[in-house]
Amino acid sequence: MKWLILIVLTSTILACSKSKPASESSQETVSYSEQYRPQFHFSPAKNWTNDPNGLVYYEGEYHIFFQYNPYGTVWGHMSWGHAVSKDLLHWEQLPVALSEYQDRITGDSTMIFSGTVVVDKNNSSGLCSGPECMVAIYTSHVHKNGEGILQHQSLAYSNDKGRTWMSYDKNPVLSIDRKDFRDPKIFWDNDRTQWVMLAVIPDKFTVQFYKSTNLKEWSLMSEFSDPQNTSTKIWECPDLYQIPVANEPGKMKWVLSLSRNGPAHSYSEMLGYIGEYDGTRFTASNAFAIDKGKDYYAGITVNNMPKEDGRTVMIAWANNWAYGNLIPTAPWRGAMAFPRELTLRNVQHGDTKQIQLFMNPIKELESLRGKELTNFDSIDTRHFELEAIVNTAKIDDLVVGLLKAEGKNIVEYNVAEGKVFFNRTDIGVFSSNKDY
Ligand code: FRU
Repeated sequence: MKWLILIVLTSTILACSKSKPASESSQETVSYSEQYRPQFHFSPAKNWTNDPNGLVYYEGEYHIFFQYNPYGTVWGHMSWGHAVSKDLLHWEQLPVALSEYQDRITGDSTMIFSGTVVVDKNNSSGLCSGPECMVAIYTSHVHKNGEGILQHQSLAYSNDKGRTWMSYDKNPVLSIDRKDFRDPKIFWDNDRTQWVMLAVIPDKFTVQFYKSTNLKEWSLMSEFSDPQNTSTKIWECPDLYQIPVANEPGKMKWVLSLSRNGPAHSYSEMLGYIGEYDGTRFTASNAFAIDKGKDYYAGITVNNMPKEDGRTVMIAWANNWAYGNLIPTAPWRGAMAFPRELTLRNVQHGDTKQIQLFMNPIKELESLRGKELTNFDSIDTRHFELEAIVNTAKIDDLVVGLLKAEGKNIVEYNVAEGKVFFNRTDIGVFSSNKDY
């Protein structure tokens, strides 16, 4: 039997209205009234953004840096935009942290591509003016006449909680003389007291692992590639983190995530591997899609989460290279997916068990809940949270007529298949783009 839930519902539905805009900008003010302006997700006041960069918690603030074009609403002049938040919900946009510059050696124009920020707690780099400071490790993208010629990894550091940044005077710190070599993600390996960097060789579908004691000198430890990989999509934005298996106390597993992209019109997506990391090398036991939707790319986890917190939180770009430069928003283009908490659970599949990654919106989202409503007639906002309890013994197909456009249902839950569908083909917004 097919059930249709429209906007009038039973008591099993709980809806909450939203209280206030989730992001604010001191550099430029966002009115939050623009058409399509995300109310819960981070987006810059104006201009283009792609990947989140340098996600880090430090002294009571979460920092998001982001691939930013300060001059327009399409990709270009890549720099690091910057915003801070106390709760991962309400963001205050700050001035650009790292801007494109001329390469110290070649004099060629250099863009600031994706990377990480770490808190150098013991001043291992010697760059801190006090006992500790923030260090950014990013890809310098050297280019001439619109063509990339070299990518290498460089450092910048901040002694004032990320408000101003100095470029390290001996950049780059890691070069393999390659046109494509990028997206360093760094974490502190406490067991071996060393920094570990992951970076990709995109067109070789390879993640390289480096180690360092001072963030300045790096030596190669190992490489990871997937012998089963048959895709020709290039690899970008790797990350590695250890997560407890929630239903097996004491057990931890490592997750390697990465993004892959192109060629044109095949969409960009994130990929994950669950496995083991022995301090030198990562070995995968299974591969999976991080998100089956189209708009989750270049996700990385937040470094230096408060100790008492212990969560693994990921933020990704809510867009896709197949149409990212075309989505019809102004005066900005690009937004981040809502922060997600990553957890692992061992799940029974027939006779076998498999450790799987789960993602949930971070619990801070609940603080935006307003009034609880049980009757949809009284909803006067486009932003609400819907909680539905479905008795799957009685139905095999559920259609939630939310976001109902031109008579078509967009969100569907197929009970038999256990799948939720989000179909935006005919929503009338940007439907002309076939990739969207
Ligand atoms: C991923 C990516 C990265 C690169 C950045 C450039 O979306 O292509 O590999 O560092 O964007 O903006």
